[in-house]
Amino acid sequence: MPSLMSRCYPLLLACLFACLFVSASPVRRAEPGLLVGVGKSDVTGPIGEITMAGYAELAQKANGIHLRLKARAFIFASESAPNRRVVYVSTDMGWPSYRTLKLVVSNLQAQLSPADAALYTLDNIMMSATHTHSGVGGYADNFLTQITNFGVTPGAREAIAQGVSQAIIMAHQDLAAATVTINKGRVENASINRSPTSYLLNPASERAQYTDDVDRDMLLLTVKDAQTGRMKGTANWFAVHPVSMNVSNERVSGDNKGYASYLWEAQQALAGNPTFVSAFGQTNAGDVSANTAGAFCVDTGVACDGGKGSCGGDLSKCLGRGPGYDIGGDQLSTEIIGKSQLAKAQELSTSAVKTLTGGVVDFRKTWISLPDIKLTGQTGLNATVCKAAMGYSFSAGTTDCPALSFSWQGDNDPNASNKPFWNFVRGLLKEPSQDLITCQGAKPILLATGEMTSPYDWQSNQLPYTIFMITRKLAMLGVPGEVSTMSGRRMRAQVLQQLVSDGTADADAEVIVAGLTNSYSSYITTWEEYQAQRYEAGSTAYGPNTLAAHIQVFKTLASSFKSGSLPPASPAFPIVSEPTDFNDVNFLTPIVLDTAPAGKKFGDVSVQPGAATYKTGNKVSAEFICAHPRNGGSDASTIAADGAKPLAALPGGASSTFMTVERQVAPNVWEIVLDDAVWDTKYLWRRNGVAESRCTLEWTVGGSFPVVAGTYRMRYLGRYCRLQS
Ligand SMILES: *[C@@H]1O[C@H](CO)[C@@H](O)[C@H](O)[C@H]1NC(C)=O
Ligand SMILES: *[C@@H]1O[C@H](CO)[C@@H](O)[C@H](O)[C@H]1NC(C)=O
Ligand SMILES: *[C@@H]1O[C@H](CO)[C@@H](O)[C@H](O)[C@H]1NC(C)=O
Ligand SMILES: *[C@@H]1O[C@H](CO)[C@@H](O)[C@H](O)[C@H]1NC(C)=O
Repeated sequence: MPSLMSRCYPLLLACLFACLFVSASPVRRAEPGLLVGVGKSDVTGPIGEITMAGYAELAQKANGIHLRLKARAFIFASESAPNRRVVYVSTDMGWPSYRTLKLVVSNLQAQLSPADAALYTLDNIMMSATHTHSGVGGYADNFLTQITNFGVTPGAREAIAQGVSQAIIMAHQDLAAATVTINKGRVENASINRSPTSYLLNPASERAQYTDDVDRDMLLLTVKDAQTGRMKGTANWFAVHPVSMNVSNERVSGDNKGYASYLWEAQQALAGNPTFVSAFGQTNAGDVSANTAGAFCVDTGVACDGGKGSCGGDLSKCLGRGPGYDIGGDQLSTEIIGKSQLAKAQELSTSAVKTLTGGVVDFRKTWISLPDIKLTGQTGLNATVCKAAMGYSFSAGTTDCPALSFSWQGDNDPNASNKPFWNFVRGLLKEPSQDLITCQGAKPILLATGEMTSPYDWQSNQLPYTIFMITRKLAMLGVPGEVSTMSGRRMRAQVLQQLVSDGTADADAEVIVAGLTNSYSSYITTWEEYQAQRYEAGSTAYGPNTLAAHIQVFKTLASSFKSGSLPPASPAFPIVSEPTDFNDVNFLTPIVLDTAPAGKKFGDVSVQPGAATYKTGNKVSAEFICAHPRNGGSDASTIAADGAKPLAALPGGASSTFMTVERQVAPNVWEIVLDDAVWDTKYLWRRNGVAESRCTLEWTVGGSFPVVAGTYRMRYLGRYCRLQS
């Protein structure tokens, strides 16, 4: 590790004065029974030359902010047992991390009274990733998932844990008697199967039960205060990959789900309900893309060969397109897919009539060793579950992002960056054992991840499983991976059958597959889909029976509600103790020095917007001489110290920001109107030479957040570092 000493200073600059003039429910009676609390907080984390989590594309760095990332927490309990709680947190992040969840729990222990902290443990929290592909990476637990970040990004886990624990504390303080309704309906034209040929391998009789090769149903919960009828929050689950922002995007974004949450929360804030929390959660989206216009060959523009994703045999040329592709690019696609989900969620919320009743709220959680599972009722290879491995198609990618930009064996690190790291990685590669090859069946093994344990597990062979019962009408499965459409359907049906036959759930209960929860093990496809070895199957870590193993574990865990305790460990249910933490590898270069060009100061404007009159929909843009964002944004106290006061209900609501839009309210008195968390504003940093930086601030006037006519300025905020002598 470099050991250069440096000191970083707050950089608070009001530099730019761009003058512009802008043309300007019935309450349901509470069912006694449920207590619900909601909360939300920022989990954006450090940005600046850090590879984004999702596309595994080394060239895609998080260098700016479009939409800040949020954690949205919901606590449920029964009035009959108010201390038996379950916590669902939908988090705008690429994938879940158990290490981060542990930090969340220790934050809660530090910040709540001992009695309150005891209510929230590693057993009753589900931290589910929305799977946005435009968030910062570097917080994953397994080495495989850390590779594109050169290990663990310092501060990334801590920032997420800080936001998640804050959201949970807000929900804890908000807990009160609530009416919860449940509703379900189809979202049209917002999703497409990206491996349709694999889906077709599922038995015809099974496929005949469904109209589509993706799940179009959205399940939505609406939470209202039992006393006042105020809408506290909504949570919904709809299967679609947040890949509307494409692999060229460099600004952090919650993508289509984050955008839908943002819009609903902003609408409610403007209507005087700023604490409203709206989660657009992830479910069985493993093979589901938001690129609904289909996939096309980038060179010829011709549609790729019937979902095989092949352009004259070259997979890397086949790329999906969103609905806004021809008109407004990936940002418009994000808006279209986000608004489709939002419109359905709002309709379902308004029309809901079914209330969750029956007081019981309960949970079960355990760690299971996958390769030790024996599948009941099966023989030979069909009864076995493998150690983890990734197939060759894992490296080929999907039509949402064709291929990893590096190879495992060759010396072709793009732009030769971080040589020491790549040499380190190459030295760790191992040939798969014969047992692994046999067990993995149809999968040609690229990486024997379950057999590679240096510097620590490349992929864990042990996973945490959590299940919640929220009344007799709703179960939630915390699945530690990305679940394909048909896999999710099988999980839901078989777990429901177990719960109903045990008398734990009513026959009309719903089972939610909360995908990407608490730990990440790549994909889960059906046995049939696995045989085709497309990307999702090549990334189904534990072999052809991965899904069957997950279902067996969830059914066994579900059956323990009846017995009142966890079932004993057995070959069908191989319980293990929680893995210990390792010392993280980190090869990310720290930022030690910022410079401004000769004769210029940090914060000088390098490109002014034309002073002009702007109207709704116009774009304002300015460029500043700035500092590396990994030195941190400003914080709220710094802003307040300068005299500018936030409005009561800032739609962004972040505690720190790299930019503000401010309105003049009196001579030399400015009021902050927008921050960098808003869809209408964009912040982008770029390196200029060795240690100089330029930052571009943009504002689409009145894009989603209406502003009144007046005089406005845009301000950049940051911190710079200087070498210490
Ligand atoms: C979905 O798309 C089809 C084809 O473009 C169109 O006919 C239909 O009206 C759309 N449905 C909705 C609900 O937007
Ligand atoms: C992503 O979308 C932008 C426009 O929004 C476009 O300029 C860029 O080429 C796209 N990148 C890829 C890899 O499709
Ligand atoms: C293994 O399971 C698959 C999927 O259920 C089935 O098609 C196949 O016949 C089984 N093989 C054996 C040897 O039982
Ligand atoms: C080097 O990096 C740039 C930008 O990050 C990228 O556009 C270019 O394709 C890379 N070169 C190679 C050989 O991968």
